[in-house]
Amino acid sequence: MRRYVLGTFALLASTGFILSSCGGSSSAQTPFERLGGEQGIRKVVSDAVPCLATDPNIGVFFRGLSADSLERIQLCLTKQLCAAAGGPCTYPTTITYTSPVDGVQRTYTCRPMRASHQGMLGPGGKGIANGDLDSFKACVQKSMQQNGVPSDLQQAVLNILESQRNDVVDDRNK
Ligand code: HEM
Repeated sequence: MRRYVLGTFALLASTGFILSSCGGSSSAQTPFERLGGEQGIRKVVSDAVPCLATDPNIGVFFRGLSADSLERIQLCLTKQLCAAAGGPCTYPTTITYTSPVDGVQRTYTCRPMRASHQGMLGPGGKGIANGDLDSFKACVQKSMQQNGVPSDLQQAVLNILESQRNDVVDDRNK
């Protein structure tokens, strides 16, 4: 966990993520704040779902999930981006959510990226490919554009996603 947090920090520094939040009129705000806090991040994540589910490359990964699982993923992704953007979140973390299926409140421990992505089946039978990650990023970017996220901040979020390529893309595709 500690290694993950430090790694994320080092990564953000190296990608210019932290620097990008230190210029101009937004110098007092963290990327997390500029994204509209956890609520703003959740909106970007939710608005990316239709794109993710219908994308010709990666839609198949998401269409097979229950509505309950989809809700959990969105909350976990929100927590992860919140943590990486300087918000008051940690990742991995435990969430409490109300299931959209049966209205029951559940707790769930969001897993690290390697544990939650390696070994999937996928259309080619070899799990997530490099191009799939590109498609994922394109959907998140489209959602950020729809939500009026400034382009430097979009790039910072895309850098966060890109930094996880090695854990998300299946080892069989390397
Ligand atoms: C950097 C890019 C990505 C990030 C940050 C990300 C983030 C996440 C997070 C936070 C979860 C929830 C983990 C959990 O339930 O413990 C998750 C689950 C999942 N992700 Fe990703 N993801 C990324 C890329 C992708 C791609 C490219 C695909 C498919 C093409 C994908 C497919 C899935 C699926 C199917 C699950 C559900 C796994 C399960 O319930 O067992 N993800 N992702």
